[in-house]
Amino acid sequence: MSVFRTLDDLGDIQGKVALVRVDLNLPMRDGSVTDTTRVRAAAPTILELADKGAKVLLLAHFGRPGGERSSTMSLSMMVGAVEGVIGKEVMFIPELSGDVAKQAVGILRPGDVGILENSRFWKGEEANDPAFCAAIAELGDIYVNDAFSAAHRAHATTEGLARVLPAYAGRSMQAELEALDKALGEPKKPVAAVVGGAKVSSKLDVLLHLVGLVDHLIIGGGMANTFLAAKGVDVGKSLCEHDLTGTANDILAAAEASGCTVHLPYEVVVSKEFAANPASLRTCNVHEVAADEMILDVGPAAVEALGDVLKTCRTLVWNGPMGAFETEPFDAATVALARTAAALTREGSLVSVAGGGDTVAALNYAGVADDFSYISTAGGAFLEWMEGRELPGVAVLGQ
Ligand code: 3PG
Repeated sequence: MSVFRTLDDLGDIQGKVALVRVDLNLPMRDGSVTDTTRVRAAAPTILELADKGAKVLLLAHFGRPGGERSSTMSLSMMVGAVEGVIGKEVMFIPELSGDVAKQAVGILRPGDVGILENSRFWKGEEANDPAFCAAIAELGDIYVNDAFSAAHRAHATTEGLARVLPAYAGRSMQAELEALDKALGEPKKPVAAVVGGAKVSSKLDVLLHLVGLVDHLIIGGGMANTFLAAKGVDVGKSLCEHDLTGTANDILAAAEASGCTVHLPYEVVVSKEFAANPASLRTCNVHEVAADEMILDVGPAAVEALGDVLKTCRTLVWNGPMGAFETEPFDAATVALARTAAALTREGSLVSVAGGGDTVAALNYAGVADDFSYISTAGGAFLEWMEGRELPGVAVLGQ
């Protein structure tokens, strides 16, 4: 892992202005924030800087307004959620640079917190325009990035600012990078990866990268059907990307060449219709799927065998559900394997790291999210990390 500066490396910041990139791209319904996980992740950094006497100015984006102001995407909507989590009053500043912003910052006292407007209201953000970065930098003395989940974007507030101000990783960014390093950087071996989800096409690069790194690759979800079809299994009317069976075979060949064992379900839960608890539900060997049936989950004996694989491993990286977990009883494999991983983590024999929107939802649903060693709040950034790509917002902190 490259070396990066953290809040431990800060000198005296009493009265200084800290520009802090956080992720306030929060889920909303009817104008209200429905989940504050990302705010809670950033809170330790915000409060640590405020306690050290800095004026804390939060930078963030919301949605994809494409460089135009939009009243439905203003960060003013996030003020209440941030105040609720950090327990402090927060000033909303409807600009990102310029005189109005400077005057507002002038009103803040040491220890106060402000939120600048949605960075994506300006075209310079996504263009990572140096002049735009310089204008924002005029507001602050230091830059802290605490938004791993936006670090796959080379934007002004995620990358460019780190080039013009002294730059530090916030506590959440630091924890994320340390956890990810334990998972795939310098992991304890053997390493297992669970990759699930509907489509091979959305995770091709993830799979190709992982087969060169991990000892066991457990493939579940709809994407397993494409691999099964590639091996000549008749998957009936299961979700399957038949045009990608050649690619699936290439991944299997790459795995074999690098000594990675790929685990595909040998026993599956099938049904003629995709509905909760359908009448046609049955469990069968993967070679016995009828032409009018679809595979919707991994069977219980196969899940137990996968649990035995995890028992031989020291590290686990998990992304994607094993079956159609939002519909009962096709949640069973995801829940059972997640519980095994959680138990092994509690016993201290496994380091378990998971990430991605669906995955976090699945692990929360299984009631085990707190037992995993680390759960990433990132979606796209976690996937790009699993693809082995360098994230611009992280790379710049190591320079
Ligand atoms: C996310 O929600 O995953 C991040 O905030 C990145 O958002 P984006 O995909 O719009 O860049």
